[in-house]
Amino acid sequence: MESVSVLIPEEEVEKKIREIAEQITKDYAGKELKLICILKGSVFFTTELAKRIGLPVKLDFMSVSSYGDDVTSSGRVRIVKDLDESIRGQHVLVIEDIIDSGHTLSFLLEMLKSRQPESIALCTLLDKPSRRVVDVHVDYTGFEIPDEFVVGYGLDYAQRYRALPYIGVLHFED
Ligand code: IMP
Ligand code: MG
Repeated sequence: MESVSVLIPEEEVEKKIREIAEQITKDYAGKELKLICILKGSVFFTTELAKRIGLPVKLDFMSVSSYGDDVTSSGRVRIVKDLDESIRGQHVLVIEDIIDSGHTLSFLLEMLKSRQPESIALCTLLDKPSRRVVDVHVDYTGFEIPDEFVVGYGLDYAQRYRALPYIGVLHFED
């Protein structure tokens, strides 16, 4: 079995999301934004963020798989569900739960850029910079965290723990 300890409490996550939303609202003033939620991990972050951005916002969803139910990165990325609508000529903000090796995002950003958005930027709730294998430019980061396996606020371990309202560290016990 595993156990979870609190790393970032709910109030801190929410405070940070409000700050990021404020910054985005300033940076995109006068524009309409298309938020791309990377399922399933980013769904909590995306909705909390979207509610607080003071601009017209559209949402679309994409699902990619690189991990399976494991905690080790394979480096392979597969589109499981593509966007419903075109992003051509739009201001696109990709919303990710966590950037680890960077494989997923570097693949995704290149693919989305080829669809000719007006602009594209990346927003992640969590970043583990010490784990980076592929260089990715991140425009908005919630928290930089140490190299620990985290769950909650959308993040899972084998599809569990996503609905925890805080971010926790998963401890494996035998
Ligand atoms: P990357 O391609 O290695 O950057 O992996 C990014 C994806 O790996 C994220 O979208 C998560 O689904 C998953 N991931 C990486 N680290 C963690 C973690 O600590 N907890 C849960 N999922 C993680
Ligand atoms: Mg996952």
